[in-house]
Amino acid sequence: MDKRADGRKADEMREIEAKVGVIKRADGSALFKIGDTIAIAAVYGPRELHPRYLQNPETGILRCNYDMASFSVTERKKPGPNRRGVEISLVTEKALLPAVDLSQFPNAVVDVFVEIVQANAGTRCAGITAASLALAHAGIPMKDMVAAVSAGKINGKIYVDLSKDEEDVEDATDIPVACTARTKKITLLQLDGNITKKELIEALILAKSSCEKINKIQEKALLEFYRQNE
Ligand code: CDP
Repeated sequence: MDKRADGRKADEMREIEAKVGVIKRADGSALFKIGDTIAIAAVYGPRELHPRYLQNPETGILRCNYDMASFSVTERKKPGPNRRGVEISLVTEKALLPAVDLSQFPNAVVDVFVEIVQANAGTRCAGITAASLALAHAGIPMKDMVAAVSAGKINGKIYVDLSKDEEDVEDATDIPVACTARTKKITLLQLDGNITKKELIEALILAKSSCEKINKIQEKALLEFYRQNE
């Protein structure tokens, strides 16, 4: 089963679009589209953190919030926070934290809001990729950039960037992965399904090389913005 339902090759991601500066009122913002999945990220701060007892006098704090819009999926999602959103907000924060340096901003917070406006699998990865772009666009000091994509196994074969139809195949395994561009570290690794050690290594190699491709697209989006706003 080499051909995928949508005609892609095993190592081929869906079509990608990336753009920064999409929300004027935010300090930094980005849109990241992969196939039919669309994530928008908005960054506010650094600004003083309230309530004050949450402040850290040694460093600023990164706070991420992931939300999937009610209209983003075919079966309307109940608005507001849920368990899945809380989990994805947490892993988004963990995936981005190694890339930012908030040591210059004691007692402050940098807020990252990720909104999924259209969902067709891979939304946490699209959100992380958009958030990293929005942080860079906001001028937050960064040691690295983060890109994310999922790899997965369907009927014993490894593919990158599973679509919703692929994820829904019986016994499919989904592995969202985030990587830093410079240090090549994995900052997110989740696994939903079964996989052997050999298959996992193959999936991680594929996810990492795909993250490198996404990072090039991130760089291009930032360069395009600065060229247009020189
Ligand atoms: O989106 P991601 O792959 O990061 O996370 P998931 O929890 O594995 O969700 C996979 C997909 O299921 C989402 O991208 C949506 O397309 C769909 N979904 C949905 O239709 N309704 C929900 N309440 C949650 C997810």
